[in-house]
Amino acid sequence: MEEVISAEGLVKRYGDLTALDGVSFSVPRGCVFGLLGPNGAGKSTTIRILTGLTRPTSGKATVLGHDAEAVEAKARIGVVPEASNVYEEMTALDNLVFAGELYGVPRDERRSRAMELLELFNLSDRARDVVVGLSRGMKRRLTIACALVHRPELIFLDEPTTGLDIQSARILREQVRELNKGGVTVLLTTHYLEEADQLCDSIAMINRGRIVALDTPENLKARVTGSRIVEVAFSGGVDEADLGGLPGVTEVHRLGDKHRLTVGDDSDIVGEIADYARSRGVTVSTINTLRPSLEDAFLKITGVNPEEAKKDKEPQRQRRNDG
Ligand SMILES: Nc1ncnc2c1ncn2[C@@H]1O[C@H](COP(=O)(O)OP(=O)(O)O)[C@@H](O)[C@H]1O
Ligand SMILES: [Mg+2]
Repeated sequence: MEEVISAEGLVKRYGDLTALDGVSFSVPRGCVFGLLGPNGAGKSTTIRILTGLTRPTSGKATVLGHDAEAVEAKARIGVVPEASNVYEEMTALDNLVFAGELYGVPRDERRSRAMELLELFNLSDRARDVVVGLSRGMKRRLTIACALVHRPELIFLDEPTTGLDIQSARILREQVRELNKGGVTVLLTTHYLEEADQLCDSIAMINRGRIVALDTPENLKARVTGSRIVEVAFSGGVDEADLGGLPGVTEVHRLGDKHRLTVGDDSDIVGEIADYARSRGVTVSTINTLRPSLEDAFLKITGVNPEEAKKDKEPQRQRRNDG
């Protein structure tokens, strides 16, 4: 299959900080490829290199057969950066027409293409409103529409749904699927495991500038077999260390008011938990055994609790919550 992206040994240093530490992967045409990792992992840096916005300290990035910095590559890709880059004082329609101009869409086609994209992204009734008044989700949709104005064959989406309400995020995911059905190759980054699971054909898990796993979502999930996940909540306080000490338990993480235990397949964990609760004078309020999710695979592979990784994002999300 034709390779549309090739990253070979990408290293990026900022002074003493190594943002990327030898990242290699390739993306075949027609694929939805996900870069999944916690805040600061190096996802945006990878996108910035692949879209020619920054140079790697070492390594090689090839996009559509050209060096990532080459104009030939840039003309055929669409880029949606982490922060929406539409012009706030301009109308939605004017933003699209202007993007068309920048991307070299012929003058007589710009307007019709803009209208088509407004329709596609459900923004037709807001076409003549200035961006300032649009909701966050609408702005995000408009940003993506602008990146598609020249019908790119490859699109880079940096955290397309971060900070969006559930409904807008769902619409965006559907649009990514539609684009892909239409033949567009997609590289997206996300720290939402569920999103990566739902959208991607292939996922590179990235942590501290390194790819720690690269596989299909199903294969990544299969790596956590041999163990089960049990989520338990107690009526009163319990000691996490005690839970970690129960026979068969290999890991314990707190998730809100619950504890998530990773246990061996053969352990009698339910009995153990019941005995433990009794010994502490508390009761078990809920207990669930879960099939391994991508989240479990992430935790197992990176050792990073995805809940913790998400928490890093909160202040940023609140700051940007302006629409
Ligand atoms: N322009 C920059 N100057 C200095 N450090 C940077 C710069 N851009 C990114 N970094 C650092 O590089 C690391 C990776 O950042 P980034 O690629 O943005 O991560 P992610 O997108 O996965 O959250 C982080 O430690 C970040 O602080
Ligand atoms: Mg980022």
